[in-house]
Parts: sequence; C-alpha cells; structure tokens
Amino acid sequence: VPSCYSAVSPFKRGATETCELADIDWDDLGFTYVPTDYMYSMKCTKGGNFSKGELQRFGNIELSPSAGVLNYGQGLFEGLKAYRKEDGNLLLFRPEENAMRMIMGAERMCMPSPTVEQFVDAVKATVLANKRWVPPPGKGSLYIRPLLMGSGAVLGLAPSPEYTFLIYVSPVGNYFKEGVAPIHLIVEYELHRATPGGTGGVKTIGNYAAVLKAQSAAKARGFSDVLYLDCVQKKYLEEVSSCNIFVVKGNTISTPAIKGTILPGITRKSIIDVARSQGFQVEERLVTVDELLDADEVFCTGTAVVVSPVGSITYKGKRVSYGEEGFGAVSEQLYSVLTKLQMGLIEDKMNWTVEL
Ligand code: COI
Repeated sequence: VPSCYSAVSPFKRGATETCELADIDWDDLGFTYVPTDYMYSMKCTKGGNFSKGELQRFGNIELSPSAGVLNYGQGLFEGLKAYRKEDGNLLLFRPEENAMRMIMGAERMCMPSPTVEQFVDAVKATVLANKRWVPPPGKGSLYIRPLLMGSGAVLGLAPSPEYTFLIYVSPVGNYFKEGVAPIHLIVEYELHRATPGGTGGVKTIGNYAAVLKAQSAAKARGFSDVLYLDCVQKKYLEEVSSCNIFVVKGNTISTPAIKGTILPGITRKSIIDVARSQGFQVEERLVTVDELLDADEVFCTGTAVVVSPVGSITYKGKRVSYGEEGFGAVSEQLYSVLTKLQMGLIEDKMNWTVEL
C-alpha cells in the first residue's frame, strides 16, 4: 500500500488529498499499460441487478476457463479520461455518456449493465483511489477503462449466468507514436470492421480483435492505422480502427452518420457540438472515399486519440497528403477548444465536465 494511503481509507472522497504523485517519468507517457493501485469490481447474476461493488487492490482476476467472455466474446468496454487541474482537482469528461453507451451495448450483447449512477459513482471512486496516477496538468491524463463481461461458466452458446463490471485505470499521454504530429492512414477495402445488423455500433471487444489483422499489416508498411469502408458499396467511409473520422472542405465539416456500423464516439459527438458553436457547418451523412481526394483537412477523434490530424491517406495505391507539418487550421481550433474544456482551462458552458 502506498504510504500516503496508510492514514485514511482510500475509498473515501478526499482521502487521497495529501498523496504525492506516483514516481514515474511524467514526460514519457505514451498509450501503454501502467499498473496502478486500485480497481473496481461489481458482479451480477443473470436476471439480477448489479450490487455490492467495491474497490480492490489492482491485480489479476480469476475467471473460469468456461467464462462467456473467453469462449463467446460476451464483453464490452468503455474508455474515458480524468485530467488534473492546476488547483489539484480532477475533471472527468461526460462520464454519463459512457454509462449510457454501455447500457446500449449491453442490450445488444444480452448482458445486464450497471445503471448510469452506479457506473459514474464507480468511475469516481476508482479515479479518487488512484489519484496519484493522474498526470500533472499538461502531461497527459488518467485513462479509465470500464469493462463488462460474461464471467459465468457456459459451454453451449448462451448468455453467461454471471456478469462482472470492472474498472481499471492507467496514466496515458498521446495515443499514436507520432504524438500530435499528423498520422498516415491506409484505406482498407477488402477486410471489414462491421456489417449492417452486426455489432459495429457498440463497443464490444470483438470489433477490436477483428481489426488487428488489417492494422498489423498497415503498421508493417509504415502506416499509423487503417480507415474502413462500408462493406456493401465499399465506397463510404466508416471509421478508423480506434477512432472516428472527419473531413473538412471550406467551412463544412462532414463525418459518417451513425447507422449501426460506426461507433457513436463521445469525442465525435462533442466535436460536432464544438464545431457548430465555432460557426462551422457540420454534416453527418454518407461520406464517399472520393471526397478525401478533394478535402482541405482530415482529422480523427476518439477518447484515446483526442483530435488527431491526418497527414495523408493512401487508397488503392494513390496517396493524398493534407500537410505534414502538424494540425490544419480547423482541427487545431477544435482540438484547442475541446482540450481546454477537458482540462478546465475555459468555461464549461456545455456542462460536460464533472469535478472530483
Ligand atoms: C478509446 O478511444 O477510448 C477507445 O476505446 C479506443 C481504443 C482502441 C483505445
């Protein structure tokens, strides 16, 4: 137990106020797993409700080899971040949106899910118990990873008899190794991430396993990530393996509409509102791959990637560049407003942040 926890229970609000920061190099954070102090766990039987959640020392969990999540992929995850403000208080960004997305995903995956209140309270408790792992202002954030999984044993294909909701956290910096420099994408037109009527619109674990093959091949060729097309017409943009995509042309910003095959990103939704508040016209619609050829700027959004400028896109051997230097003017403006809001540096008129 870290010495700062010895006097008071870490589970109570304010108990970690006197904690030092964890002893790591805060200037060297990437998006890699760093074990922290506590995780949160709550269980539920099939047909029941989640209850008796608790913080536990961070560590490995025990699962039956027959657990639904291991055998049939009955699992969902979420991602959100906490930032440390200059005054030492912590800010969460729209945690109830993650809670609601988990409820929607759970319905699709035949799982019970924690209520919005249970989810948000559990996130707050986990962050406070791990306060010393929240990076200093300007150095990064604490990435919060809630999981929901079928933890009960099954053999025949069926919903699991027991479910576990778990939250762990890890301090993070930039997602892509490029940092805030532009990323380079390749359009994938043979492998697909999602199909109509499938699970592409929920944050189920299998969606992410399904993109590893194309992602690995792209990385081996020097690309940062893969941009997927719709699997029917093979001409409309869907999303990147780990984030949503936006195309800028003049004062208009277009992004693929949510239609069941695209993850309804919380950063995506927030950027749409921020862009409109900044006077841009935002269109959620079918966006063709050909529109990339003609775009002024392209950028990606996600909790992990925040707003990432795209430097180039390669499609069927043809490479289109949008500037190798850094952010384009539009993505820079949106990144700046969003991150200042998330870090508590400008007034939160939208009421998106939750202070701890
Ligand atoms: C996130 O942005 O939070 C995600 O869940 C994407 C993941 C691939 C890191």
